[in-house]
Amino acid sequence: MTTALVTGANKGIGYETARLLGERGFTVLVCARDEAAGGAAAQRLRDGGAAAVFVQLDVTDPESVARATKRVEDEYGSLDVLVNNAGIAKGEWIASASTVASMREVYETNVVGIVALTNALLPLLRRAPAARIVNVSSEVGSVATQLRREGPLWRMTGLAYPASKAALNMVTVMYAKELWDTPIKVNAANPGYCATDLNGNSGYRTPEQGALVSVHLATLGEDGPTGVLWGDLSMSHGDTEDGVLPW
Ligand SMILES: NC(=O)c1ccc[n+]([C@@H]2O[C@H](COP(=O)([O-])OP(=O)(O)OC[C@H]3O[C@@H](n4cnc5c(N)ncnc54)[C@H](OP(=O)(O)O)[C@@H]3O)[C@@H](O)[C@H]2O)c1
Repeated sequence: MTTALVTGANKGIGYETARLLGERGFTVLVCARDEAAGGAAAQRLRDGGAAAVFVQLDVTDPESVARATKRVEDEYGSLDVLVNNAGIAKGEWIASASTVASMREVYETNVVGIVALTNALLPLLRRAPAARIVNVSSEVGSVATQLRREGPLWRMTGLAYPASKAALNMVTVMYAKELWDTPIKVNAANPGYCATDLNGNSGYRTPEQGALVSVHLATLGEDGPTGVLWGDLSMSHGDTEDGVLPW
């Protein structure tokens, strides 16, 4: 049995990622902080034929992380895929108006929570033959893309969310380097601008298109990359293809 754990899987890109991994034969651990929403999502996936199991998980709550980890260990013994998908986008619109409170809140979920969960699950990922870790990041965390004067992100100067994704990119690189000589691959995903609750459904890509980026990185073969930011290139290069983005 191959198992994949997806955080924030009750809706949006996370739900679609769980659905697509289920279609590909994974037993999917559908994680959500809200019991009712997560339970309903797992039920929908089971109704569609997937082996989907709801696991309560708030990445900012150490007790919830410990409970979920113990459950994965007790019930599955190892973990093949971890998709760190849960994220929030909050904060003020310009850097100089950023508050400490919004910086802390966004970093707690988008950076600290991912480190906490990854460290907790790493022993189980090491027990799988060739685990894959996917950190769902964003092109807005690409320093080179933000600095393209002619690019669509030039006018973005809000701080908390882009800075958290830039930090997540470095988190990805550091895990990739630590695990370089193991079969585990660690990459950051750029879903592109997808219509979800995160952005008031204003994105021009579908959640499924965003999820396909995570699924690609979750199912990389032995010859696939580690330590890259991969996904939608429309904002970094103006391309319609997926590929490696600059950091
Ligand atoms: N949409 C885009 O255009 C876009 C672009 C680039 C990157 N991303 C990234 O893609 C990921 C998924 O976002 P989305 O667009 O699908 O947004 P979404 O529909 O708002 O989904 C976010 C998910 O994260 C969960 N979550 C938030 N805080 C959590 C916590 N502390 N513990 C566990 N789960 C938590 C949410 O749970 P609740 O339902 O309980 O709130 C929800 O399931 C995020 O990391 C986001 O930054 C999105």
